[in-house]
Amino acid sequence: MSNIENMTMDLFAEPVTGPSVDVIEQVRNYRDLLNLWNYEYYVLDTPSVPDAEYDRVFQALVAIENEFPQLKTPDSPTQRVGGEARSDLEKITHAVPMLSIHTETDFSRGGAQAFDERVRKAMGWTESMSAVQYCAELKFDGLAINLRYVDGVLVSAATRGDGLVGEDVTANVRTIRSIPLRLQGVYPPVLEVRGEVIMHKKDFERINEEQRAKDLKTFVNPRNAAAGFLRQLDPKVTAKRRLSFYAYGVGEVEGEALATTHAGILDRLQGLGFPVAKERRVVDGWEALADFHEWGAEIRETLPFEIDGVVYKVNSLAEQASLGFISREPRWACAHKYPPQEAVTVVEAIDIQVGRTGKLTPVARLRPVFVGGVTIANATLHNEDFIGELGLMIGDSVVVRRAGDVIPEVVRVLPERRPEHVEAFVMPDVCPVCGSETFRDEEDKDTRCTGGLFCPAQRKQALVHFASRLALNIDGMGEKVVDALLNADLVKTPADLYQLLPLEIMSLERFGEKSAMNLIEAIEKSRQTTLNRFIYALGIRHVGESTARDLAMHFRSIDAIQKATIEELLMVRDVGEVIAESIRHFFDQAHNLEVIDSLIASGVAWPEPEAIATDNEVAGKTFVLTGTLPTLSREEAKAMLLAKGAKVAGSVSKKTNYVVAGEAAGSKLEKAQSLGVQVIDEQAMKKLLGVD
Ligand code: IVH
Repeated sequence: MSNIENMTMDLFAEPVTGPSVDVIEQVRNYRDLLNLWNYEYYVLDTPSVPDAEYDRVFQALVAIENEFPQLKTPDSPTQRVGGEARSDLEKITHAVPMLSIHTETDFSRGGAQAFDERVRKAMGWTESMSAVQYCAELKFDGLAINLRYVDGVLVSAATRGDGLVGEDVTANVRTIRSIPLRLQGVYPPVLEVRGEVIMHKKDFERINEEQRAKDLKTFVNPRNAAAGFLRQLDPKVTAKRRLSFYAYGVGEVEGEALATTHAGILDRLQGLGFPVAKERRVVDGWEALADFHEWGAEIRETLPFEIDGVVYKVNSLAEQASLGFISREPRWACAHKYPPQEAVTVVEAIDIQVGRTGKLTPVARLRPVFVGGVTIANATLHNEDFIGELGLMIGDSVVVRRAGDVIPEVVRVLPERRPEHVEAFVMPDVCPVCGSETFRDEEDKDTRCTGGLFCPAQRKQALVHFASRLALNIDGMGEKVVDALLNADLVKTPADLYQLLPLEIMSLERFGEKSAMNLIEAIEKSRQTTLNRFIYALGIRHVGESTARDLAMHFRSIDAIQKATIEELLMVRDVGEVIAESIRHFFDQAHNLEVIDSLIASGVAWPEPEAIATDNEVAGKTFVLTGTLPTLSREEAKAMLLAKGAKVAGSVSKKTNYVVAGEAAGSKLEKAQSLGVQVIDEQAMKKLLGVD
């Protein structure tokens, strides 16, 4: 810091050529951030930002330092070459340096073409010459490691470190089950195998579950978890078989060459007992490399481990030797990455979306950011609890993630970047779409709009449900027709259906005179219904067909249900707190009552339900219907049984009194026979019901 302050003084002496005070402040901020992130990453093994974000700030600092070289001080993070080995692990000097490879920044097919062009140019191959042969592999997202075998026995294992000197992690590596302690078959006297230590996705999930259960910090991703375990000081901790290894090359090899091609080396390594990923291909020319890159993106999510790209290598070792190196990177290899799946951005606002079912979903409005190959501006926040668990405030910087076709997610908040003014999110107590009251469903932690019949967001679903077979059963009023009616602005609520004119329906696409009249007729027919169907048709959350029936039987009028208190609702069979509250909320909305009133005013009517009979043979007995009955539909038979106080179950158990079997009855009939449940036909059922 004092360097910069001194420079500030100097600057005042030379205001024309030097950086401004703002730039100096910026440099200081960048260095503080990079130092913090470096420490989190390399010392604590718990990074708080994605690599892409580190790189972005790093590059911004490099740019300023290049513009103002007087700001380049030895303590700048840009002047550090790789991370220093941790003092608590011994150091190992690599016999052959562990190089890194050139990374293509073009995520498209062009990246493969650019690499091929460089290779051909360096080898002096003209266009008319044949295609270069390559070995294409996955780019594992883990840690590079060098395994040294002398006379077939593992003697040491080291991390890459700065490429020349790494850390001795032999004790931990010995605990990785997939790494052979002794080589199989015929091997050279000295062999160094290089590859990646990774953690499988399922192991990562399990470890994080354990961490959560113990209230300990979770790992950010499998690579960081792998780094943490690999560099553990106590090998017993690493020994839990949770790290894995894939070989992708060699270091020092004494004696005879293993093979003449890179693919040959991989095959040899596999033969010596090393895991080598089967997703590798020998191909000719850049088009095939680009195909491999695309294929990798497709299978990425299905792989048991994470990859961040693919790697291309010139297959012939002779050609590799002729290509050599440029600025410590081999000319014969390159990494072709996938766009980063994580990025940092700012949550500028939290909006509410109301879904078809009335669920209120908070959505983060993000400062647009490029992630997973696209620019995203929104991410779902699921519900209130999710926001609470993240500790998210409006204005916060967050890490967002988009993997494959998965919906973008806010992964975590970066509290160290919280600006002075942030705002807490509050779930609205009225629906932003229709103004009805909202209520929190404790069972699924969701907040919902209670204006089911009235809310424009729920219109389509409400209408489709209202017209469905077990509700008001309006034949022909499916999703497509509802869509057409809504698009033409002909209906808003179910009550509007009863005001539709034939001419209006005929104006819709795919409707003629006949089909319009058919629909009008079906609507007319639905006016005469039953109270249970009517209640079910309202689409009250948690009120299914059987609860609707219980409510109808219990209260026997819509008026009585509307007025029922929670206590009274709880008296109904199978109605618990959640259902009672949902019903109460629904009828508390003036909007919903208006729609019900207009439905009744439009002539929707039902006979008063008969009191449940108890003085007959079937009352209280449980029936199961199976197969096709000769004269009655399943629904008709069920209605007749229910009207007499019987129960109708879906599966056969010891508690079943009668199974009514029709034609082609299947497993339910068999079950009845095996349990000794009485099996009767339609005729016998009618007799029991007294409706012969
Ligand atoms: S070859 C000289 N092959 O990616 C070539 N590297 O800089 C050395 N990586 O840190 C690397 N998968 O740890 C190679 N199939 C693969 C790889 C791979 C992952 C890592 C490696 C290194 C970085 C490349």
